[in-house]
Amino acid sequence: MPSTCPSRDALVIGAVVATLLAAASLAALVWLPPPAVAACGGARNGAGPTAAVTPEARAEAKKLYSSRCAVCHGKGGRGDGPGASNLNPKPPNFCNREWQKSITDEKIARAIVFGGAAVGLTSQMAPNPDLEDQPAVVAAFVEHIRKLGK
Ligand code: HEC
Repeated sequence: MPSTCPSRDALVIGAVVATLLAAASLAALVWLPPPAVAACGGARNGAGPTAAVTPEARAEAKKLYSSRCAVCHGKGGRGDGPGASNLNPKPPNFCNREWQKSITDEKIARAIVFGGAAVGLTSQMAPNPDLEDQPAVVAAFVEHIRKLGK
């Protein structure tokens, strides 16, 4: 049966391509320089450091924000979650325009994926390594946080 060999090869090639794509998207997340985004303007598709936001990614980011972030950052992003009272420094208020101006989309994305320590902040801000290969979800987080500043 000659047909089995090509299909197995195709699987192997597919796996290699998938790995390369994942590596490439991670590299894009890490290496793209900060874009010139207008203050509080947020990322438009294609202008941010991360992937295009899909409706699925937006829904996933919303779900994850409630389950992983709100405990410290608060439902509305004001840094007033129940877990924040014991923290020092406190989480930033995402609704504060000065804070929004002080930070790039790239730094927000890096803090979320690699944790506070990776961007020179406290390690109390935990990394989310499972998002490393989900750039669209990370982009949706950035979008969500930028919207809070408007
Ligand atoms: C255990 C509490 C905690 C959790 C959970 C948490 N954070 Fe944070 N986060 C912090 C603290 C504290 C800071 C401020 C760090 C500092 O100023 O040193 C912070 C900072 C940040 C920043 C600002 C980074 C910067 O460069 O200024 C972003 C963005 C952020 N968090 C997003 C998130 C998102 C999104 C989640 C959920 C996926 C999350 N955080 C989960 C505590 C938390």
